[in-house]
Amino acid sequence: MTTRYSGSIRQVSRSRRAWAVACVVLAACGGAAPSSDPSAATSLLPVIPPPAAAAAGRAATAQPGTAGAAAVAPSSTGAVPPPTAATAATTPPATASTATSAETDKLWCGVKKTLDARCTACHNPQKTAGAPMSLKTHADLIAPAVSDPTKKVYEVVGTRTHDQQRPMPPQGVLDAPELGPLDSWIAAGAPAGSDPTCAANGPEVQPTEQVWPENCDATYKVYAANGAAPNSIGAGAETHPQFMVTPPWGNEEAQAIAWRALTDNAKVLHHWILYGPTGEFLFGWAPGKDNNEPLPSDTGMYLPSGTMRMDVHYNNVTGSSMEMDKSGVEICVLERANFRPKTASVTNRLASRLINIPARAVDYDVTGTCAHSGAPVNLLSVSPHAHRTAKHMKFTVEKANGMTIVMHDKDFNFEEQTTYALDPPIVVESGDKVITTCTFTNDTDRTITFGENTGNEMCFNFAITEPMNGLSCGGFGL
Ligand code: HEC
Repeated sequence: MTTRYSGSIRQVSRSRRAWAVACVVLAACGGAAPSSDPSAATSLLPVIPPPAAAAAGRAATAQPGTAGAAAVAPSSTGAVPPPTAATAATTPPATASTATSAETDKLWCGVKKTLDARCTACHNPQKTAGAPMSLKTHADLIAPAVSDPTKKVYEVVGTRTHDQQRPMPPQGVLDAPELGPLDSWIAAGAPAGSDPTCAANGPEVQPTEQVWPENCDATYKVYAANGAAPNSIGAGAETHPQFMVTPPWGNEEAQAIAWRALTDNAKVLHHWILYGPTGEFLFGWAPGKDNNEPLPSDTGMYLPSGTMRMDVHYNNVTGSSMEMDKSGVEICVLERANFRPKTASVTNRLASRLINIPARAVDYDVTGTCAHSGAPVNLLSVSPHAHRTAKHMKFTVEKANGMTIVMHDKDFNFEEQTTYALDPPIVVESGDKVITTCTFTNDTDRTITFGENTGNEMCFNFAITEPMNGLSCGGFGL
C-alpha cells in the first residue's frame, strides 16, 4: 500500500512550487511536475510522480510489450525509435489546417512552457553546458539546425526527444503530458500562434535567489584545477578530469551552511561533483543549480577533514575552438565553536554492493534494504548515484505499519546526477525500512559487478540525513 507524503495543503503548495523551481533550475526532472497531474488537487505528495502520468510516460517510451516495466529499455539496435503506438494514442492527429487560432495558441504556449521548464537552462542564448543552440524563442525553433542545416531546429527537437540513446533533456525522455503536445506541435509544422512570445504564460519562474549567510566564520574557494592553471578543453572534446582537494578548512571537521558555484566557462562546464574521503557525495552542480537547497536554520552540513575529490564533466563537442575553464565552488564554513546544533551529512548506507548484473540483462533490479532501529532520522534530500548501466532509480520507505512512501522514482542518466530536496523531510522511525532499487540494462557481454570504475557499477542514494550517521543499518545497507 502506498501512502501520500503527509503535510498540510499549504506546505504542499509551497512544495509544489519548490518542485517546479527545482525542475526549472535543475532541468532534471524525470517525473511529471505534480501540477500537471489531473489528480493534483487530491495528491498530497510532491515527490511521488503521479502514477497515471508516470505509467503513461513509460508506455510512451517503452518497447512494445514492456509498458509498465520498472524501467525503459533502450533500443538495443541504437536506432531512434519512431513514436510508439502509445505515443500516438496520446497525440491527436495533426490539425494544422483546421485548428482554430485559439487551439494553436494553446498548443504552442504549452510547448513553450515545456521548453522553458526542461530545456532552456542549457539551451539559452549563452549556450550553457555545450548546448549548440538556444530554444528560448519561436524564431530559435524555426532556424536551421546546427547539426544538419537542411532541417529546422524543431525537427531535430522531435528526433532527440524520442532518442533513447541520446535523449534530450539528457536526464531522460520527457513525460507523456509534455511529449504529446510537443509531438502534435511538430507534426502541425511548428505554428507560432497569434503571440509567439506567449505573454499569457506569465513571467518565467526564476530560480530562487540564494541568501548568502552573513555569519560564515570563513569562506573557502575550491577549484577543480591543478594549482593556478586552468583546464583546457579541446575543440570537439568531452572530458571527465578528476582533482584531489585538500580541505582548506584544515584537518578538523567543520560545518558548511551554504555553498555556491564559481562557474568560469559555462559554455563547456557540464557538471561537477565534490566527493568526501570515503567517496560520499558532498555537493554537486548542474546547469541552473548554482547553490545549495536551503538547510533548516538549526542544521549545518558536515565537512570532512580528509582529502576530497572533485570530478568535472566538460562538453565542447559542438565547439570549434579550444576552451579554458577554472570553475569551482565557494563554501561558507562554521568553526566548531559556532556549529549549529544539528549536523547533517550525506549517508552512504542507502545502497547495495551486491551487484552482479548478468551479460545482456535488461531491466535488472538490484535492491539494498536499510532496516532502521533507534531514534528517528530526517531525510532532507535524495541523490541517486550509479554509473552508465543504470537506467532507473526508485527509493522508498516501508513504514513499520505497512505503508510505503515513494521518495524518488525516475529514470537515471549518468550525465546528470542531482540532489532532490525532500520538503518537508521524510522521517525514518525505528522499524522502518529504507529501500534503494537501481534498475540496470547491461549492453555488454560480461557480468558487471560493484566497483569504483565507470566500467563497474554502483547503486547509491546519497541522501542527506540528520542527525548525521543516524541510520542504524549496517554499512552500505547490507
Ligand atoms: C543539461 C543541459 C541540457 C538540457 C537541459 C537540454 N539539452 Fe539539448 N543539448 C545539450 C547539449 C550539451 C547538446 C549537444 C550534444 C548533443 O547533441 O548531445 C544538446 C543538443 C541538443 C539537440 C541537437 C541539436 C542538433 O542540431 O543536432 C537538440 C535537438 C536538443 N538538444 C534539444 C533539447 C530539448 C528539446 C531539451 C528539453 C526538452 C534539451 N535539449 C535539454 C544540453 C542540454
